[in-house]
Amino acid sequence: MMGNPVKEVPDEAPAGDTAAVGEKHATAADRYRGTRGRRPVWRRAHDRLAVVARPRLSYLRSRLSGTERFGEAPLISGRLRLEAHGRVLIGDRFRAEGLAAPVSIYVTRGANLEIGDDFYMNGGACIEVWHDVKIGNHVLMAPFSSIIDDDRHPLEPGQVLYKGPTVVGDNVWLGRNVAVLPGVTIGSGSAIGANSVVTRDIPPSSFAVGAPARVIRKLEIPPGWVRP
Ligand SMILES: CC(C)(COP(=O)(O)OP(=O)(O)OC[C@H]1O[C@@H](n2cnc3c(N)ncnc32)[C@H](O)[C@@H]1OP(=O)(O)O)[C@@H](O)C(=O)NCCC(=O)NCCS
Repeated sequence: MMGNPVKEVPDEAPAGDTAAVGEKHATAADRYRGTRGRRPVWRRAHDRLAVVARPRLSYLRSRLSGTERFGEAPLISGRLRLEAHGRVLIGDRFRAEGLAAPVSIYVTRGANLEIGDDFYMNGGACIEVWHDVKIGNHVLMAPFSSIIDDDRHPLEPGQVLYKGPTVVGDNVWLGRNVAVLPGVTIGSGSAIGANSVVTRDIPPSSFAVGAPARVIRKLEIPPGWVRP
């Protein structure tokens, strides 16, 4: 049968053929330089400084943002926008990874945000607090997931925009692009699948998906187990 001719490529250069190996590497490096160009020294120094300084700045800003309590050992990389005009309590080991997109927390004047220990926010995740949001320990927010506790705009006259506190229990995982809408409670241990919209309460240890999010099964979470 006629097929495409396949050229045999040896896994390794023949023994003793170090020049061939060296040449291969040099060619790859040259190709890299040819396409990207070599960055000037000042540019490389600037990039290196930015990598080191940005997380430090985010960290400093968050410490100075007016939070009433910012727990021990936070780990912030990339950009974190934290505007705390209300009462904000953040537990220990807060982690934010605003590398691909900034992470943001906004708490308006007079509002209340409580976040437990070991909380994690990935790039683009955001929390907007106009009244009262409570988040437990070991909560994970995947990229672009969001929590907001006020509808902000009425669909029609007379609509209630604030329906009560928004509560996320301990050990809850919000998947990528999950939207937690105002006034819902997500029970401890639950997980919400990617792209879901949580419009109603979710009982503890449940796996819910969809828009609107519906519980599709119960999760078996042994006591004391937390999601890594
Ligand atoms: C949590 C997750 C991994 C669970 O997926 P899973 O292992 O497939 O879940 P299950 O096997 O229990 O799925 C049960 C059913 O729900 C469906 N399902 C799973 N996740 C879904 C989702 N996010 N939206 C709609 N349906 C979903 C499955 O297709 C399956 O349907 P079927 O029975 O008709 O085949 C998945 O929902 C998810 O969100 N993945 C992305 C996680 C993420 O955001 N990671 C970023 C971390 S930083």
